[in-house]
Amino acid sequence: MAIERTFVAVKPDGVRRGLISEVMKRYQNRGYVLCGAKLVMPSDALVREHYKEHEGKPFLPGLLAYVGEGPVFAMAWEGENVIDQSRKLIGATKPGDAELGTIRGDFAQVMERNIVHSSDSKESAEREINLWFKPEELCKYNIAASPFIRA
Ligand code: PPS
Repeated sequence: MAIERTFVAVKPDGVRRGLISEVMKRYQNRGYVLCGAKLVMPSDALVREHYKEHEGKPFLPGLLAYVGEGPVFAMAWEGENVIDQSRKLIGATKPGDAELGTIRGDFAQVMERNIVHSSDSKESAEREINLWFKPEELCKYNIAASPFIRA
């Protein structure tokens, strides 16, 4: 177990449905620390770079168009094992497979509009945080509840 940072984004469907605060609440309730946040109208280049590992996949053009429409609410969250835990918080990629109680299980119906993105590995988390944020946009601090959240 380790203190990690991960990249989480509320995608345009989530932003336009007014779900930013609902998503943030779930991370804050779990005790994770918000290190960076901003609302972005992403350029085509940024979205393409973000999803570059999916180059050549049939769903990519649709995904780029949907996320590229913006706005995207980009966040960096810090906490114990947060990269894997965040994937559990958001739920399975296909909302139909997502457990109730997860973000996608509670708020989404189809993969093409699945509300949130969360990095799937240490390498992706580092790459995506650096892609969406400048170093000076990221904050390092302790939350008052830290002693009650971390042993
Ligand atoms: S793969 O093929 O296993 O690598 O893809 P996967 O990890 O399941 O999904 C990667 C991202 O692509 C999105 N996705 C889609 N979007 C729209 N339509 C279709 N058919 C589709 N299939 C996959 C999926 O939501 C993932 O987006 P992010 O933003 O990373 O969650």
